[in-house]
Amino acid sequence: MAAQKSNPKEAKGVLYRIAGPVVVAKGISARMYDVVRVGNEGLMGEVIQLDGEKTVIQVYEDTSGIKPGEPVESTGAPLSVELGPGLLTSIYDGIQRPLVVLQEQMGDFIRRGVYADGLNHKKKWEFKASVKKGDKVKGGDIMGAVQETETVLHYVMLPPGAEGVIGEIKSGSFTVDEVIGKLDDGADLRLSHRWPVRNPRPSKKKLTPEFPLVTGQRIFDALFPLAKGGAAAIPGPFGAGKTVSQQQLAKWCDADIIVYVGCGERGNEMTEVLKEFPELIDPKTGKPLMNRTVLIANTSNMPVAAREASIYTGITIAEYYRDMGYSVAIMADSTSRWAEAMREISSRLEEMPGEEGYPAYLSTRLAEFYERAGRVIPMGGDKEGSVTIIGAVSPPGGDFSEPVTQSTLRVTKTFWALDAKLAQRRHFPSINWLTSYSLYLDTMEPWFAEHVAKDWRSLIRRFMGLLQEEEKLQEIVQLVGSDALPEKQQLVLEVARMIREYFLQQNAFHEVDTYCELKKSEQLIRIILKFEELAGSALDAGIRIQKILETKARTRIPELKFEKKYVPLIEDIRKQMEQEFSSLK
Ligand SMILES: Nc1ncnc2c1ncn2[C@@H]1O[C@H](COP(=O)(O)OP(=O)(O)OP(=O)(O)O)[C@@H](O)[C@H]1O
Ligand SMILES: [Mg+2]
Repeated sequence: MAAQKSNPKEAKGVLYRIAGPVVVAKGISARMYDVVRVGNEGLMGEVIQLDGEKTVIQVYEDTSGIKPGEPVESTGAPLSVELGPGLLTSIYDGIQRPLVVLQEQMGDFIRRGVYADGLNHKKKWEFKASVKKGDKVKGGDIMGAVQETETVLHYVMLPPGAEGVIGEIKSGSFTVDEVIGKLDDGADLRLSHRWPVRNPRPSKKKLTPEFPLVTGQRIFDALFPLAKGGAAAIPGPFGAGKTVSQQQLAKWCDADIIVYVGCGERGNEMTEVLKEFPELIDPKTGKPLMNRTVLIANTSNMPVAAREASIYTGITIAEYYRDMGYSVAIMADSTSRWAEAMREISSRLEEMPGEEGYPAYLSTRLAEFYERAGRVIPMGGDKEGSVTIIGAVSPPGGDFSEPVTQSTLRVTKTFWALDAKLAQRRHFPSINWLTSYSLYLDTMEPWFAEHVAKDWRSLIRRFMGLLQEEEKLQEIVQLVGSDALPEKQQLVLEVARMIREYFLQQNAFHEVDTYCELKKSEQLIRIILKFEELAGSALDAGIRIQKILETKARTRIPELKFEKKYVPLIEDIRKQMEQEFSSLK
C-alpha cells in the first residue's frame, strides 16, 4: 500500500520494544500516522504515538518473532489508499491489499511483509476525456471517465486540493500509473490518486438526507427507514441476525455502490460472503452484483491493527465514489470488533482505560466514523452523492447499555434493534418493532407520499399503533387469557399477529420473499388493514369474533410474500374477503 519513497536521512531507526501489535522504535524521525516498515521482514505499520525520541507503531501484521535491534524505516507518508478504476469487484484485506494477490504471493501460509498494490497497475483502461486544454480545474472536478465495470462509469477526478489549468489531456488507453495529461504548471494527471484514510474527503456542501435507502426489507423500509446519507446501527446479540441483515442490505439496497467491510468476524462467515457475492446477480441490471461492490475482508484471525484500519479503508473508498456523484452504502460487520481492536491497542499503549476497558476516545472515534456519512454536493460538479453507513454492533450478552452500543446510538438516527427472543422464536428478521426507531420519518414523509402512496405515513402509523396496542394487551392476556378480553381487543391481537407474521417476517433465503418492493409492501399493508376495517364493521354489526376469525381469505395473505406476480393474487384475496364478510351473519 505504501509505495512512497522514504527520506534516507532520518527515516531509519531500530526496534526497542515489542508488545503484540504495538512496537516502539528509537532513532527514527517520523510524523503521526506515517507508514513505517518494521523489522527485517519489513512488516507494515503506522505511527500512532510520538513520545520524545520514542516512536510508537501499530503493526498490521503478526509481530511474533521480531526482535529489538531490528531496523525500522519510515516511508514518510500517511496510511493511504489507492483510488482509481479497478476498485469495484475487488476483495481487499484491511489495508487494501487484494486478497487474490496475497494468496498468490503467500500460498496458504501467511508470509509477512508482503506488499501489494490496491489497484492493478498493468491493466489498461479506456479513458474518455471530458475537459480540454485551457479549462480551469480544481480539486474534485471531473476530467473524464472510464467504463469501470459493465454497469458503473468511473469518473476520473482531479485530486482534492489540486488546482490549475489543463495544459494537455488525451483520451485513450492507460494504466492507472500512466500520465493522461498535465496541468499547465507541469503537474501530471493520472487515472488514480492516493488519499490518506484517516482524513475525510472534503465536499462542497452537506445536504439534509431526505430520500430513503430502499432496502427491499419490509420492516426497514416501512417502519424504520434509513435515509440515503444517513447512518444506522444494527445491534444484536450473538446469532440474532446481524450478518444476514447486513448481507441482505448489501445485496438489495438501491445504492449505486456497495462497500462491505467484514470486520473481525469469524473466517467462515466471511468465506460465505466471498463465495456467495461473486455469484449474485443485480436485480436492477441483470449483471453480477460485484460490478458495483468492493469487499473488505478482515477476519478474526487477522492482526488487530489491520482490523482497526479496515473501517477507514472502507469509508475512504465510499467517499471516493460519493465524490463522483454516486449513492454509496457501506456496511461494517461488526463495529464492536473494531472497537475491541482499539481497546487492545490502547491497552498495549498502557493508556488510561475508560468504561469497560475501552479507550476514553472510543465515542469520539465512533462519532468521527459515522460523521463521514452524508448527502453532499461534491467538490466538483453539481451532481449530488451520498454515503450511507450501516454499522452492526455485537454487544456482549446482548446488553445494549454497554459503551459501543451507547456511543453508536448517540450518532446514528436509525436504530434497528435485533432481539434474541425473536430469533429464538424464528421470527426473522428479528428486529424488535417496539425498541427500534428511525428519526428520518418526518423528513422523508414527502418522498414516500410522492413515490409510494399519499397516505403512506398514516398507513404506517396505523400499523405501529396496532403493534403497540398489542404489547399493552399482552400484559392482560398473560394474566387472564385472551378470551377474557372484549371482542374489539381480541381483534387487535389478531390483526397485530397478522402484521407480525404476514408482513414483518421476511425470509432472506426465499427467492421471492428475500426482496420486497415498496409497492408490494404497500399492498400487503392495505390488505391487512382492509381485513381490520371489515372485521371492525362486522363486530359493530353484532357479528361474533369467532365467526370473523373463521374467514378464509386472510389466511391466504402470506402466499403473497412468496409470489412474484402478486397483483392478480391480491385482487383475488380482496374479492374473497369482501364476499366472506358480506355473507357473515
Ligand atoms: N432475515 C432472515 N431470514 C431467515 N433466517 C435468518 C434471517 N436472519 C437471521 N436468520 C437466521 O439466523 C442465523 C444467525 O444469523 P446471523 O449469522 O446473521 O447472526 P449474527 O447476529 O451475525 O451472529 P454472530 O453474533 O454470530 O455474528 C442465520 O444463520 C439464519 O439461519
Ligand atoms: Mg455475524
